Amino acid sequence: MRIGVFCSGGDAPGMNACVRAVVRTAVAAGHEVIGICDGYSGLLERRLHKDGEGGCTMGLRTVSGWTKLGGTLLKTSRCEAFRTDSGQIEAARILRDLRIDALIPIGGDGTFRGAMALARHWNGQIVGCPGTIDNDLCGTDATIGFSTAVQTAVEAVDKIRDTAESHRRMFLIEVMGRHSGFIAVHTAIAAGAEIVCIPELDRTPDALLEQLAELERRGKTSVMAVIAEGDQFGGAQKLDELLQARSCPFSTRVAVLGHLQRGGAPNVEDRILASHLGAGAVAAILRGKTGVMAGRRDDTCVLTPFEETVASHKPIPPELLELINTMAN
Ligand code: F6P
Repeated sequence: MRIGVFCSGGDAPGMNACVRAVVRTAVAAGHEVIGICDGYSGLLERRLHKDGEGGCTMGLRTVSGWTKLGGTLLKTSRCEAFRTDSGQIEAARILRDLRIDALIPIGGDGTFRGAMALARHWNGQIVGCPGTIDNDLCGTDATIGFSTAVQTAVEAVDKIRDTAESHRRMFLIEVMGRHSGFIAVHTAIAAGAEIVCIPELDRTPDALLEQLAELERRGKTSVMAVIAEGDQFGGAQKLDELLQARSCPFSTRVAVLGHLQRGGAPNVEDRILASHLGAGAVAAILRGKTGVMAGRRDDTCVLTPFEETVASHKPIPPELLELINTMAN
């Protein structure tokens, strides 16, 4: 069997470890792996990963040392052309031409929506792996890259807290998450932030100011607020302007962490998760599965139909939000 693997959407730490697991598992079982570069756009342009000798199949040694590498060596993209029917039909034609029997896309919700669209025109098997720092896919306890992104954000918040305390300031620290507050909530808990603002939580500016006033009454001299980029106020900068216009009790500064959160070597948790799910995706293909994502629940690899992974918003556990308030006391 010939299996194609590619990364798509935002890069996430652990994507390389996942590709390595796909290659090692499939090749050891006697199958061939083709690495497709630059996600769906690379597929449309037939950009294939070449090994040292210029061959197009990935061997056991091609992926030596990939576990610890950040970013994605296969490269990635967000592809407009693939959103159209004609783009998907062309991709299906190329897959047939390359004699690919099965595909393993590694990415987030956009990647899986693309896989569902492709399946309308191509009858090969598709089993995805959840690779996104956002942790916003149903069907897995965590996505590949989430843990490392949170760790990076926490290290940054810890450093910013030093300067916040020294100057008796409030910092509004923006983390990624256009539609999901997982990174913000986990970062806030681990870094001991007093406030978190996420897309899932609606509150009035007055309620936020009241919370700040209460923190000041309790003797807090510095405050860390972790803001998801897609929160109701429109991110840290906008929220800061709003607070300044309404006599915020603290002097404030804004720090936007941005793409820093997507870079760096994957941590232990992401390396293990990526290896587990890459191998799990190959095993699922060999069992004849298709149209599913390989995720992990309670340390077991489980398969969830693509439709279900993207159908609903993965909810933030309310206990975690409660925990932030309790800890800020
Ligand atoms: O989906 C991952 C993510 O990092 C989001 O958290 C963020 O909103 C988005 O990608 C940024 O995308 P880009 O790098 O294309 O600007």
